[in-house]
Amino acid sequence: MSESFRSMLRSLPDFPVDLPVFDPATAPSAPADLFRDWLGAALAAGVRQPHAFTLSTSDAAGAVSSRMMILKNIDAEGWHFATSRASRKGRELTEHPRAAMNFFWSALGRQVRVVGTVVELSAEASAADWDERPSADGSPNPTWQLYAVRPLEVEFWQASHDRRHVRHRYDLPAA
Ligand SMILES: Cc1cc2nc3c(=O)[nH]c(=O)nc-3n(C[C@H](O)[C@H](O)[C@H](O)COP(=O)(O)O)c2cc1C
Repeated sequence: MSESFRSMLRSLPDFPVDLPVFDPATAPSAPADLFRDWLGAALAAGVRQPHAFTLSTSDAAGAVSSRMMILKNIDAEGWHFATSRASRKGRELTEHPRAAMNFFWSALGRQVRVVGTVVELSAEASAADWDERPSADGSPNPTWQLYAVRPLEVEFWQASHDRRHVRHRYDLPAA
């Protein structure tokens, strides 16, 4: 069982034959601009939920947890996501306001990694996010919180069939 499972995993296909070519020399100076380009390319390639990402957080003792989330916006405050402050990730962010985000678009062989500090956005912005959810039923949720990751690092990664995968990393000053 475990041997056949291992063989099956080893036989799974890799990235598609046609991959974009990424030249970091042509990249914009702001990572958010490159991210918007890449998200647009993922959408054009038919990627479903290209704004979904893995969010990793940790508690005060350093125990790590992760889960999928939806990106809500990018602006001067940072990269936005929303959740309940009472959730595990909400409690962990109160204890330790740092997080890592990871976007992966398999069809394009692309990954974007973001590491940064996390701030809570305003109660008004959080309430507006709650009201805009597709399933919003009109009743407010006082635990719903909009957060922003203020990036310290953003790394763009482009797979290549010759295994010369391309990485482009932005190191940003702490706000
Ligand atoms: C694609 C996808 C997107 C999700 N987006 C969100 C989101 O934006 N906010 C949220 O609170 N949970 C979202 N979830 C659910 C979370 O992954 C998670 O199960 C839940 O928030 C509880 O996480 P926690 O116990 O670690 O706090 C999403 C799940 C998936 C699969």
